[in-house]
Amino acid sequence: MSDVASSELSFDEFDEITRPPAETTDFDRVVERRMSRRGFLGGAVTFGATAFVMGSTSLTRPAHSAARLGFEPVAANSRDTVTLPDGYRWHTVVRWGDPMFSDVAEFDPQTRSTPDSQAHSFGDNNDGMAMFVKDGRTVLAVNNEYTNRGIMFGNNASGKPETVDDAKKGMMAHGVSIIEVARRDGRWAMVKDADVNRRITPMTEMQITGPAAGHDLLKTEADPTGTKSFGTWNNCGNGRTPWGTYLTCEENFNGYFSTADEGFEPTAAMKRYGIGARDWGYGWAMADERFDVAKHPNEANRAGYIVEIDPFDPASTPKKRTALGRFKHENAELVIANNGHVVVYLGDDERGEFLYRFISEGKYSVGGDNADLLENGRLSVAKFNDDGRGTWIDLDPDTTGMTDAEVRIHTRMAASKVGATTMDRPEWVAANPNRVEAYCCLTNNKNRGKKPNAGGDATPVNGPNPREANNYGQIVRWAADDDDHTAEGFAWDLYVVAGNPTVHDDAYAGSDNITPDNMFNSPDGLAFDSTGLLWIQTDGKYSNEGDFAGMGNNQMLIGNPATGEIRRFMVGPNECEVTGLTFSPDRRTMFVGIQHPGEKGNSHWPGGGDSLPRSAVIAIDREDGGVIG
Ligand code: FEO
Ligand code: CA
Ligand code: CA
Repeated sequence: MSDVASSELSFDEFDEITRPPAETTDFDRVVERRMSRRGFLGGAVTFGATAFVMGSTSLTRPAHSAARLGFEPVAANSRDTVTLPDGYRWHTVVRWGDPMFSDVAEFDPQTRSTPDSQAHSFGDNNDGMAMFVKDGRTVLAVNNEYTNRGIMFGNNASGKPETVDDAKKGMMAHGVSIIEVARRDGRWAMVKDADVNRRITPMTEMQITGPAAGHDLLKTEADPTGTKSFGTWNNCGNGRTPWGTYLTCEENFNGYFSTADEGFEPTAAMKRYGIGARDWGYGWAMADERFDVAKHPNEANRAGYIVEIDPFDPASTPKKRTALGRFKHENAELVIANNGHVVVYLGDDERGEFLYRFISEGKYSVGGDNADLLENGRLSVAKFNDDGRGTWIDLDPDTTGMTDAEVRIHTRMAASKVGATTMDRPEWVAANPNRVEAYCCLTNNKNRGKKPNAGGDATPVNGPNPREANNYGQIVRWAADDDDHTAEGFAWDLYVVAGNPTVHDDAYAGSDNITPDNMFNSPDGLAFDSTGLLWIQTDGKYSNEGDFAGMGNNQMLIGNPATGEIRRFMVGPNECEVTGLTFSPDRRTMFVGIQHPGEKGNSHWPGGGDSLPRSAVIAIDREDGGVIG
């Protein structure tokens, strides 16, 4: 989901892109500096349409794996279906509103669920997800980020939630759906009534853990201990741990708070997180008073975290991990460093916000008790220098002048104090399984070079954010010093700069690995498969006009990090975002999320005909049963 600035606008309009100006002198300067470095990570970022090619000597790896992408690329299109390469096929696994239990009514497109049926059915707008396999059973944990108000409440004359029941229904469509899935006759489907099936909603009891647990800022009337919160919402990307838990990431948690109190004045901290008197049209304060920010100002401090969930134990209490900071969490990419510490890379998806790293205090041990490794650790924020180097700056009482608990609650303010680099909306981070390096989608930022972030930090054109009014996005990557994910320093470059070479001949044409055949905008979802191919999902403009002409619907592409090559693998249906992916252990099936098809009323996917569009998880496999990719 896009970051959102006003309840007056659609989600798409929130992200409206300003057309970029013609001059790109800062970009030239930065790129020229980056070009002069030699023998770095070994990718293939070159800027062809402009004259400043990053020479093949500097960033091209041996082409040994050039033949790895074993499929013919898919052409861009604006069709209301899923398009795959020849030899591949897809089917729907589970959709918004599918009942998870046999005593729950089937989804009714007339009523579009009730609070109770929605609380026991697959949630709306599926996003990040992970597959877990144990004792021969396959469990899918899936985020349900938000709800398409225009579709869910499209049967109201206003197209909005009008009653307490409407607000509760929307609330119950948020959170996480945990379902068993099984393959029968070649098709994957949800196993109704499986004992692991569970809906986690904004009402589910959770434990607040870590350095901020029990702090005054987390205490409310309902929970004077500051250790027990209710629920999770706006769950965007995800993570998974090697000890078998699921991580769900609370992103735009702020948009659900409001108040009718005309005298209400948000604090500076509330403003930094976008919490004000009006919500984004969900009406939750109507259904549950804790979302009235004037009456319960600390409730919003209890959201914006990474939440750890045991997907196999439906009775378990999810744990909010304050150690990983509070911001608009995109995903949580977890790796075990060579020294055994757990490292989690975390993006804060808002214009001009930051990129973070967590390092666990304890060490991972195979087969040992790792359950609370995310309870405590160091939190740092990234500073990128224009010379291709960067450092992680610790956020602690010495560097910030804040207490440790305050750092974990008001993390954005802590990061501003240490001079972290304002980024072009960090979305998913993915770590390369073959090298000690990680990649992050910087999806777009119309404010780059024009407007500070919500904390007043300037957003000048800088190293990894090289274009003013960036409407296409880029993917930055960094290699940790000494092959150590816990090292202070790193070297970085840009894996790809998205653009449109059919419209522009300057920096907005994109890097040399962007062509008329693979161009896209707004990279968002990002994950490596086990072999080291990089899967890129987009959440961008699908107008197929102007700056976006020839790009078609949102899509999924595969990048080869060794060669820089990028090929389009999939195109999604109309007005969707492609987000969330996970593989079966044999990599013969991949599950992909299709979110908000028809968000502006122009889709009937997946049912076709005149059916209501519904977000869904699809399974993709090869007709010959082979390995994907
Ligand atoms: Fe929910 Fe930043 O995407
Ligand atoms: Ca996005
Ligand atoms: Ca996203």
